[in-house]
Amino acid sequence: MRTNVRAMTAASPNSPTDIADILAFYASAGVDEALEDAPVNRFAEAAPRPVERAPALVAPPPEEKAPERPAAPPGLDASKVPDAPPARSSVAAVPDEAQAALARQLATTATTLEELRQHMAAFDGCNLKATAKNLVFADGNPDAEVMLVGEAPGRDEDIEGLPFVGRSGRLLDRMLAAIGLDRTSVYIANVIPWRPPGNRTPTPHETEICRPFIERQIELVNPKVLVNLGGPSAKTLLNTSEGILRLRGNWRVHTTASGIAIPAMPTLHPAYLLRTPAHKKLAWRDFLEVKAKLRALS
Ligand code: URA
Repeated sequence: MRTNVRAMTAASPNSPTDIADILAFYASAGVDEALEDAPVNRFAEAAPRPVERAPALVAPPPEEKAPERPAAPPGLDASKVPDAPPARSSVAAVPDEAQAALARQLATTATTLEELRQHMAAFDGCNLKATAKNLVFADGNPDAEVMLVGEAPGRDEDIEGLPFVGRSGRLLDRMLAAIGLDRTSVYIANVIPWRPPGNRTPTPHETEICRPFIERQIELVNPKVLVNLGGPSAKTLLNTSEGILRLRGNWRVHTTASGIAIPAMPTLHPAYLLRTPAHKKLAWRDFLEVKAKLRALS
């Protein structure tokens, strides 16, 4: 950050007070780390480019030229790739309905988890991707009977590209071990696959854009039991606005786009349990429910 500030000072008439204001603005926006080692003089860059948006998913009028079809990801039928997803840009895309529609289309056309991962890696419609280091797709066994879904990656997950590898992940591992499970017998993902800057809460728009991907991921894994880790996962995937303390411990159903009903257990997020250890006993009960359900279904 300091090196960037030097570049800004050299190239602009900004006073130290202006610079302090800019830094305060960054801090309040959750910018908490430098992304590049070398300084970047943003003032020397060309005039800002217009924000790129996803093309409309309806056919263009006849006199307009249709956007070029992009190359199919490896192993994918080119005819199944939707027209012209926006190119990766240094400008964050603006979340809007067109991006959500594109995400739905990409998710639906993925017939395997690997295809889905490739479609997500190529998707530029969620602004969170612009600040994240890695796509955090999943960890664990895709053939598992249990799938756990959290909210969004944090710093450690962003660095490693794997869900739940930080402090809350270590607690989750201990919770799983308590009912005889581990990452070889469960599959783990998040509603949002890119780290929100500064670990801020994802916006409703961001969640709507990413929702088709996690819904398709659940459908492709097709677990016997889904575990929603925390309120955001439960609310997004169980279509409810109830709070997690009311939801937890009670079986719900997640219905996939193709109509498969999967029993779902909402429980407390490990990060919440680290802050509120007195509630670990509640999560323990929920995990025992999961264990009993798996026994009943086998
Ligand atoms: N919290 C989450 O919801 N997901 C992670 O992957 C890590 C922390």
